[in-house]
Amino acid sequence: MTIQDPAQRVEELRAQIAYHNQLYHQQDQPEISDAEYDELVRELKQLELDHPDLVSPDSPTQQVGFTPSDLFTPVQHLTPMMSLDNATSFEELAAWGKRMERYIDNNVEYACELKMDGLALSLVYENGKLVRAATRGDGRVGEDITLNVMQIKAVPHTLKTSEKLVEARGEIYMPVSSFKAINEEQLEKGERIFANPRNAAAGSLRQKDPQITASRNLAFFSYQLAAGPNDFSKHQQTLDFLKEQGLPVNPTSKVLNSLEEVYEFCQYWQNNRHSNDYEIDGVVVKVNDLAQRQELGFTSKAPRWAVAFKFPPEERNTLLKDIMVSIGRSGKATPFAVLEPVFVGGSTVRLATLHNQDQVNLKDVRPGDTVIVRKAGDVIPEVVGPVLSKRPEGLPAWEFPKHCPECNADLVRSEGESDTFCTSAECPKQLEQRIVHFASRGCMDIENMGERTVQLFLQLELLKDIGGIYTLDYDKIRAIEGFGEISVTNLKNGIETSKQRPLSNLLSGLGIRHLGATGARVLAKGMNHLDNILKASAEEIAAVEGIGTVIANSVYEFFQQEENRELMARLRQAGVNFEGPKASTLPQNLVGMSVVVTGTLENFSREGAEEAIKERGGKSPGSVSKKTNAVVLGEGPGAAKITKARELKIPILNEAQFQQLLETGEIPEVPLTGDAEGAVVG
Ligand code: IVH
Repeated sequence: MTIQDPAQRVEELRAQIAYHNQLYHQQDQPEISDAEYDELVRELKQLELDHPDLVSPDSPTQQVGFTPSDLFTPVQHLTPMMSLDNATSFEELAAWGKRMERYIDNNVEYACELKMDGLALSLVYENGKLVRAATRGDGRVGEDITLNVMQIKAVPHTLKTSEKLVEARGEIYMPVSSFKAINEEQLEKGERIFANPRNAAAGSLRQKDPQITASRNLAFFSYQLAAGPNDFSKHQQTLDFLKEQGLPVNPTSKVLNSLEEVYEFCQYWQNNRHSNDYEIDGVVVKVNDLAQRQELGFTSKAPRWAVAFKFPPEERNTLLKDIMVSIGRSGKATPFAVLEPVFVGGSTVRLATLHNQDQVNLKDVRPGDTVIVRKAGDVIPEVVGPVLSKRPEGLPAWEFPKHCPECNADLVRSEGESDTFCTSAECPKQLEQRIVHFASRGCMDIENMGERTVQLFLQLELLKDIGGIYTLDYDKIRAIEGFGEISVTNLKNGIETSKQRPLSNLLSGLGIRHLGATGARVLAKGMNHLDNILKASAEEIAAVEGIGTVIANSVYEFFQQEENRELMARLRQAGVNFEGPKASTLPQNLVGMSVVVTGTLENFSREGAEEAIKERGGKSPGSVSKKTNAVVLGEGPGAAKITKARELKIPILNEAQFQQLLETGEIPEVPLTGDAEGAVVG
């Protein structure tokens, strides 16, 4: 590592921070992730601490936010809109808490709130009427965006009180669902997509034309009464007042009495950060008592009585080493990013899909670019976009290859389609992927026959097609290095067991175009036997309830092809089950009921429990909604489902109560936990 002159590094950091501030605040087009930005600020702060002579009043560490743009009229805030100090670890949070407890002799009450990832907004009401809405700006002077904010339904134009002056501050945000919908629309129109909900909110708000703001679904939560009646002694009372006035206040806020409970709150929300329809990037912890706040006061930038506990980042920058194309079982050629491995959102990301040509073009990511990678919770990692300031000069745009990387046949994209396909019927990769799919979970579920094994068998010519699975030469397999007797027996058992899979699994495994797992289940139930499907016309298949003409035609055509008929003959010969599910003899006591299962139970796998519900005429979808009648809770449940169930006050059943439900068709009486008690679990 080279040792740099601190003065020079400080200058460098200030210039970089100023540049990124400008992109973030003025153009709503950040190039680096928040975590990387915070890292720059941290380094600068540390240098300034170590070298106090280098501190200057124009350093970004001494300022809040940004200089207002000239798009809107500047407005002076009644009192400065400050920022918050961050704690990025429990140690830092503890240090802050200990400081509070040292300064304040009495017990400290902590008001804990979610840190909304949106834009700070000030709303000024005079005699109960909204007269001005402004962005934070540089903290002292913001931008007047009253006309735009008037378009947001969540912001009331009048309050109940006719108090001379009320100022409510809070956060404007875009719900995640709206963000996704807008990006889909943008994609369809071939327009720029937003990197995250906050940028989408900023882009929607800072518009000259209020109609654009009106067309975007923006929402608001108020978290601070900055001016108004001053007969309150606690922050919580001010929130109650804001709520009474018709301003939305986040319902998850809690007043807690010890630092332990504060950690628990932070931990809970860190683990469940995606369980709401809005993005949060931390928890704000505030001293609840207003007199104590007075005593604590402010630094030049932030109040001493509050701290923002920031969650670990879900976005990071890394090098895009290459863009390659993978070939799927249908021949679809999918571009994917090969990344310099980066630890983000709890795991190391090396590869990320880029979906199709249009997505690559729209994001304009090029091999050699530094890119923003996002991995949020369980969601698959995504390349958000390039960091243009880091693009090497003359870096060429990526071009979709013209030939299949596996068989060299032409890659073709038909007019009006977004996907590109390998045109060869003999492409070895397609064959490999068809076999892998056939053997995969949810299809024939052949244990011990994953992608690596299939590749090996194809390479050694022990396997040539799907039918060959059932006529494998085990003597030859035994001779392969690394294949002991146990592996062979396991494989044999796996293949043998697969012959008994339900018809719907077989239909799924064949990879018939348009026929997904649900369609396969409906078709198997409707036709009862594969022979009935083989005999049927396209019209007869379409007559099955729940099967449309597109699926019906595709199924019909699939089974008309000679090679597929031959394959069926070989599977029949091997003794693969062709029979559909028999009509259920169980009482249909769950008809019209929707029961979600999460985690594993003692006597049922999750799939088994779902099957038991379906066999009795009920539905068992994968997520909780208003339509859910009950949630069954096993070991290792999904946090989002429980949170949602609690929020919606849906009964949560244990295994015994679930058994009772199956037998009686009635939901047993269980105590309901609303969000008041449900927000924090141990
Ligand atoms: S309190 C004097 N509460 O975080 C401090 N801020 O870095 C007033 N934010 O500018 C802020 N959720 O935009 C507060 N529940 C919350 C918040 C919150 C999000 C934002 C706000 C502020 C920034 C501080």
